[in-house]
Amino acid sequence: MQTPNGERPWTSPIHVAHVELAVVDLSRVASWYQTALGLQVIEETSERIALGVTEEGGEAIRLVSLASAPLAERPGPTDCGLFHIALVLPTRADLAHWLTHAAANGVTLSGASDHLVTEALYLDDPEGNGIELYVDRPRQDWPRSESGALRMATERLDLRDLASAAPKQTFTRLAGGTRVGHLHLSVDETAEAVRFFQACLGFERMVDYPGAVFLGSGGYHHHIGANVWRSERGAKRDPGSRGLSSYTIRYDDRVAMMKAAKRLAEDEFSIETNDERSCGTDPWGIGFELIVRSL
Ligand SMILES: [Fe+2]
Repeated sequence: MQTPNGERPWTSPIHVAHVELAVVDLSRVASWYQTALGLQVIEETSERIALGVTEEGGEAIRLVSLASAPLAERPGPTDCGLFHIALVLPTRADLAHWLTHAAANGVTLSGASDHLVTEALYLDDPEGNGIELYVDRPRQDWPRSESGALRMATERLDLRDLASAAPKQTFTRLAGGTRVGHLHLSVDETAEAVRFFQACLGFERMVDYPGAVFLGSGGYHHHIGANVWRSERGAKRDPGSRGLSSYTIRYDDRVAMMKAAKRLAEDEFSIETNDERSCGTDPWGIGFELIVRSL
């Protein structure tokens, strides 16, 4: 599906394809992802529910999986882990449509920002996982400094203006073409995020921000955000805690994925690799897998 501004971060050479959350109350959280957020159940067992969107042609796309972890502990306030999962919607009208649904159904927002390159709405799921829904501005409108570096900022978003772009029909689900646009982590130090996501995985460093770094592929403003705002020198994620348990990074070609796996191994990450995928644990105790786009 082509977006009006042509921005399709999931077609970049490297991008975030999927995330998995460990949740204490699987049925309650899954219900929220359907009714409040508008995702659909794609696959369901008693232990795990995969949610996503259905494309116009009928293809189901997994975006967020919930894994049942009834005994999982709440992470500490300064622990490393998820800052937010960000779903990018195809058009501004789609974001406006969701906003009118949220207003009509009492879905509480935790924030709304104009980041110059995007317009974004923020909320938390019932177990405190941060969610962002956003839409990209056209790439030719992204502001740059005199040196040519991309600029992002956090400014007030005019919700009334956004809502005026909504179609009149009742909202039923998030639009086909919605994808994981970026993943934003709370990390202990940004230099470690640069080492892992740039030097090992192959993302480019796009924007530096006080206490945060943003990395992307294919010229996109960011597929990965990493900040120390509440987690500077914080503890790694405890494997028994709720929240982001793993994420999937997809590569366009096998050679690039294998090179990333090799760099990880050379940097003394413990990873398992076969022809299809590599998986391991990132510097903050979160699982990751690297996969190749299927042709
Ligand atoms: Fe974000």
